Amino acid sequence: MRSLRHAFAATASAWVVLMLAVPRAQQPATDPAASVPAPKPEVGIPIPSPLVQKACGPCHTTDEKQQISRISFQRNTPEGWQDTLKRMVALNDLQIDPQTAREVVKYLSNHLGLAPEEAAPAAFEVERRLIDYKYASNDVEGLCNRCHSLGRVISQRRARSEWDGLIAMHRGWYPLVDRQAFRRMGPAPRDREPDGRPPDTRHPVEKAIDHLSRAFPLQTPEWSAWSATMRPARLDGTWALTGWDPGKGAIYGRAVITPVAGTTDEFTTEISYTYARSGKTVARAGRAVIYTGFQWRGRSTQSAGSGSAASGVEPSMAAGNDKTALREVMFVERDWRRIAGRWFTGGYDEQGLDVRFERLGRETHILGTDRTALPVAAREQSLRLFAANLPATLQPGDVDLGPGLSIVRIDSTTSDGVTLVVNVAANAAVGPRDIVFAGVAKPAALTVYDRIDAIRVAPSWNMARVGGVTFPKMFAQFEAWGYHNGLDGKPDTPDDLKLDLLDARWTLEEYTATYDDDDVKFVGELDEATGLFTPNIEGPNAKRRGERNNIGDVWVVATYMAPGSTTGPGMPTMPPPAGGAVAIEAPQPAAGQASETRAAQTAARSLRARAHLLVTVPLYMRWDPSVMP
Ligand code: HEC
Ligand code: HEC
Repeated sequence: MRSLRHAFAATASAWVVLMLAVPRAQQPATDPAASVPAPKPEVGIPIPSPLVQKACGPCHTTDEKQQISRISFQRNTPEGWQDTLKRMVALNDLQIDPQTAREVVKYLSNHLGLAPEEAAPAAFEVERRLIDYKYASNDVEGLCNRCHSLGRVISQRRARSEWDGLIAMHRGWYPLVDRQAFRRMGPAPRDREPDGRPPDTRHPVEKAIDHLSRAFPLQTPEWSAWSATMRPARLDGTWALTGWDPGKGAIYGRAVITPVAGTTDEFTTEISYTYARSGKTVARAGRAVIYTGFQWRGRSTQSAGSGSAASGVEPSMAAGNDKTALREVMFVERDWRRIAGRWFTGGYDEQGLDVRFERLGRETHILGTDRTALPVAAREQSLRLFAANLPATLQPGDVDLGPGLSIVRIDSTTSDGVTLVVNVAANAAVGPRDIVFAGVAKPAALTVYDRIDAIRVAPSWNMARVGGVTFPKMFAQFEAWGYHNGLDGKPDTPDDLKLDLLDARWTLEEYTATYDDDDVKFVGELDEATGLFTPNIEGPNAKRRGERNNIGDVWVVATYMAPGSTTGPGMPTMPPPAGGAVAIEAPQPAAGQASETRAAQTAARSLRARAHLLVTVPLYMRWDPSVMP
C-alpha cells in the first residue's frame, strides 16, 4: 500500500502544485465541457493565526484578507482536521512536530469547525458507531458511500470550489475512482422529467457537487450563530455518570472534572462507576480537550486503585498504551449540564460504552436500578437503587415505587445507593412504574410483568472481521432482552414492554447464504455465557474446502429458560422460523387468556431469538498513515 501510495504521489504531485497555485475564481471545473462564466471569488474564513500561517505557509498562500488558500474554505470536525494534517504529512511532505500539529488542529477545529446542530447528525461518525445509515439524497448515496462512510461527507462544510477540489483530490490520489464509482451507470436520461422539465443530463459527480454545495456550504446561519456565542465550557465540578456497556449492562457512578491549570479548554477527570448487574466497580483517570466549545475528546485509563474506592488515585496518563485505555468522544450540551457520547477501543473502535454525565447540584438524583423489571406476586425481591446525594436518613416510606409495589425494608445504604427489599402484589397491574424519591421522579424506571413472552437479540444484525495475524480482529457483542406482549397480547406491536437484559445461552447456527459451506465451523467462537463473538484468524484456511477464508454468515441464537421452568438450558428447542431476525419460540396465548394459564405455560418454556452476524474480511485498506499521536 505504502509504495502504491507513493507511486500515486509521484504522478499526482505535478497536478497538486497546480491546484494550489490556481487563483480561486478560475479553478478548473470538474467537467471542462460545463464551462460557465467565472463565479465571484468565494469568501473564506480568515485565519489570523501566526501559528497556522507559519505551519501551512510553505505551501498554502495567505491573501490580504488573511484567507489561507484551500484551508479557509472548509470547516471540519477535530478528527477531520487531524486527518487533513496526517495527509499533508504523509503525502505532501508537511514537516510539523506533534505539539504544533495539536495546536493547529485545535485552532482549526475552533475557528473552522462545526456548530452543535451541524455536528449532531454526523456524531455517529466520530463516535465510531456501526449503524445502518440512510442518507436522504440519491445524488450522493451510492456514489460517495462505496469506499467510506457518508459520515465523513456530512461532517464537513465546504465552499463549492472545495467540494470540486475534494473530487479532484479523489481523482488525483485514487485514479481508479472514476471507474469504480464516479461514473454514469447506463446512458444519460433522454426523456423529460415527470414535471415536464428537460432531462437532467448532469454527470453523477456534477449532481453530487451541486447537492453537497447546497446541503453543506461553508457559510451557514448555524455556524455564524455558534461562532459568535462560542466560549470555553466551564465544566469543573462533580457529575453523575450513567452508561451502558453492551452485554454487561448499566453502569452508574460519578465523574469529577477539574480544569488543567493555565488552560480554558482542557480538563482532567476522575471517574468511578459500578456495574449494576455484577456490582463490579471501576475507577478511571483521564484527560480531555473541548473543541469548538462543545466537542469533548478525551482518553482515560483504568486506575491502579480500581476495584476499591477511587479517591486519591493519581491520574496516570503515563500508562500510555495501557490496555484499559478508552477514547472518549462526547458532546457538551449548551447549558453545560449534560455531556453524552461514547467511549471506545478495539481494532475497529467496535468495543465501547455509551456514557452520559449530568451535573450534580445538591439535590438528589436517581440514576437507575440494577434490574428494570419485577415479576408479579413476588416476595422479598432485592432492588438496588443507584442515586447521588442521598438523604442522610432514609425510611422505606420515603421511596415510592408505585401501585402494587411495597418496600419491606431497606437492606443497605451507601453513598451511591440503597438496596430495597420489595414485595410485588399478585394483582399488581402489568406495566411501567415511575420511581419517586426525595422529590424527584425517574419515569418508567421499572416494569411489572406477569410473564416473559419473548426474547429479542440486540443488535438485530452485526458485523465482525476475521483477524489476529496481521490485522486486528473485529469483535461483536450481542445482548438478549426479555419482552412482554403488552395489553393487546400481540407480539411486535407498539405496546410491547421491554423488560430487562437476560442471561441467555448463546450458540451459532448456519445461515444458509451459500449452500453447504459450513460457515458455522469456521467463522469463530461465540461465548456461550456472555454473547461475545470472537472471529477466527484471517487468511486462507487449508482445512476449509477450497482453502477459503474463515468468513461467512451465521445466526447468533439466544436461548433463555423462562423463570419457573424445571428443565435447565440445553433442553431440546424448536428450530427458529425461517427469515426475520426476531424469532419467538413459545405457544402464543390468545389475547385475554387468564393469567393463571399464562403462568402455567411459563413453567416449561424456553425462549429463542436470533440475529444475523456477517463475518467478513479485515479492512485491508486503511488510508490512515498514523503518523501522528
Ligand atoms: C509541503 C507542502 C504543504 C504544506 C506545508 C501544507 N500543505 Fe496542505 N496541501 C498541499 C498540497 C500539495 C495540497 C493539494 C493536494 C491535496 O489535496 O492533497 C494541499 C491541500 C490542502 C487542503 C485541501 C485538500 C482537502 O483536504 O480538502 C487542505 C485543507 C490543506 N492542504 C490543509 C493544510 C494545513 C492545515 C496545513 C498546515 C498545517 C497544510 N495543508 C500544509 C501541500 C501542503
Ligand atoms: C473509490 C473510493 C471512494 C469513493 C467512491 C469516494 N471516496 Fe471519498 N475518500 C476515499 C479515500 C481513499 C479517501 C482518503 C481517506 C483518508 O484520507 O484517510 C477519501 C476521503 C474523503 C474525505 C475526507 C478527505 C478530506 O480532505 O477531508 C471526504 C470528505 C470524502 N472522501 C468525500 C467523498 C465524497 C463527497 C464522495 C462522493 C462524491 C466520495 N468521497 C467518494 C475514497 C473514496
